[in-house]
Amino acid sequence: MQTIAFYNLKGGVGKTATAVNVAWHAARWKHRTLLWDLDPQGAASFYLGVSGEKSYKAGSLVKGKQPVGRLRVPSRYPLLDVIPADISLRNMDLKLAEPGAGRGSLKRLLEPLGENTRLVMLDCPPTLSPVAESIFAAADCLVVPVIPTHLSLRALEQVRQWLDDKGFKHLKVLPFFNMVDRRRLLHVEMLVKPPAAMRGGLKTWVPYSTHVEQMGEHCAPVGEFAPHTPAARAFQSLWFELAERLKL
Ligand SMILES: Nc1ncnc2c1ncn2[C@@H]1O[C@H](COP(=O)(O)OP(=O)(O)OP(=O)(O)O)[C@@H](O)[C@H]1O
Ligand SMILES: [Mg+2]
Repeated sequence: MQTIAFYNLKGGVGKTATAVNVAWHAARWKHRTLLWDLDPQGAASFYLGVSGEKSYKAGSLVKGKQPVGRLRVPSRYPLLDVIPADISLRNMDLKLAEPGAGRGSLKRLLEPLGENTRLVMLDCPPTLSPVAESIFAAADCLVVPVIPTHLSLRALEQVRQWLDDKGFKHLKVLPFFNMVDRRRLLHVEMLVKPPAAMRGGLKTWVPYSTHVEQMGEHCAPVGEFAPHTPAARAFQSLWFELAERLKL
């Protein structure tokens, strides 16, 4: 089992859109995949048309009183299950900060899933809180969407610095450019000569596309309702590149 976290300290950069599209591709390529919507806003669950019939308490999850596997809900796509967001996740920071919880909590919760899951994908909230620390301890890699702007790159450097300071050296950090608009000079410049913050990242970039915005209307991944579009092709390439990098 490998755990991929879609993460950025910065909000609104495309973590959820990417997690949903990549998870859908992984399942199409016959990897049994579980997408855990860790953001109490619940956007990933919404995009996949899944709601949490079984509400849960983040506190009892963290304490190991509620097995996480019971929360998985099948999506309408074969091999793709979801753990929908729950409003109690907004307390997860507090629960993870309690004595005895520790940064390994999420990793311990995920371990039993290894029996029947090939890939766990975590759609993360934009934070550097104890939840983020627990995510970093659980993940094998971070896929980081970055809009080609100086502020986005700065957020990525802050994440890298923080990972170094906290000793998360095992983590592969895989940034990629999202919402690329080739009419903008800065975007083109950054594509041609990627700034140092993008080191080790993915070559695939995802264009700014109304089809990604339409995911909310269709409650589906782009590849499902607009398969022959540049955005759908970009997400497919992103999946292939990721699969190669992670030797899936
Ligand atoms: N490539 C893209 N082209 C156009 N719009 C995009 C693209 N990627 C994401 N978006 C849009 O940008 C907005 C934010 O995307 P998304 O919710 O995936 O970001 P996020 O990083 O998960 O945000 P948050 O930090 O709030 O969780 C959404 O309205 C989404 O439709
Ligand atoms: Mg999100």
